[in-house]
Amino acid sequence: MVPEKRPRTGSDRSGPEHVAIIMDGNGRWAQKRGLPRLWGHKAGLEAVRRIVKIAPQYNIKYLTLYAFSTENWRRPRPEVEGLFALLQEYVNKETPELVRQGVKVRFLGERSDLSNSAVRVMSYCEEQTANCSGLYLNIALNYGGRQDIVQAVRKIASRVEAGELKAADIKAADIEAELFTHGLPDPDLLIRTSGEQRLSNFLLWQLAYTEIYVTPLLWPDFTEEDLQAALSAYRQRERRFGGIINKG
Ligand code: FPP
Repeated sequence: MVPEKRPRTGSDRSGPEHVAIIMDGNGRWAQKRGLPRLWGHKAGLEAVRRIVKIAPQYNIKYLTLYAFSTENWRRPRPEVEGLFALLQEYVNKETPELVRQGVKVRFLGERSDLSNSAVRVMSYCEEQTANCSGLYLNIALNYGGRQDIVQAVRKIASRVEAGELKAADIKAADIEAELFTHGLPDPDLLIRTSGEQRLSNFLLWQLAYTEIYVTPLLWPDFTEEDLQAALSAYRQRERRFGGIINKG
């Protein structure tokens, strides 16, 4: 879905409706405490639980979390395996609670590289939460922004090859319709923890006009007050989407 890209005036400081988060700093959080890195990911999961629970209270309708990137496979095998075991356990155990909270879960990313057990748990969670509409929780897992664009382009190229579409007629909406995020509005706000100021291959197409908020906090330390601070910073921003603000 292409969101309405309308300049926002000073009197129209609502939202954000869609918040995306790069949950960085789990490893450093653990290392600072002399703990194995996996403990940082466990603490990161607790922060996920907190944010999912409170997001609707702040009128957040869509929450998109970067859980595992296509580049995260480069990590040591025990960390990758431990992280997937944690993710699967969380998704499996948490599904009834997510249903209770009215959270609709969708996984974004390439599933063909994942284990059968991971894909099974992901499908189970999506099916169980399919009729929920309180919060739309998107979990980017084996997700890469460039890979997302490549897989979308391949599908469009096939349509061109099949004679269904002319190359000259391809529009942004055709590309959006094939992205893993099809049907979702673009994020209004991107939060990145741990102070790094980069996108790390997250939602490259979708973040074109997103406001970015970077906090030095490590993800496991991110609390409701920190979400409030991010939302309050967002409300101070003037979103112009390339236009100008008409103050008249
Ligand atoms: C970045 O910290 C974090 C990750 C690569 C994993 C994030 C995953 C979770 C918090 C679990 C999420 C689960 C669900 C279900 C959404 P890092 O390891 O890169 O930390 P560092 O930069 O300090 O090393």
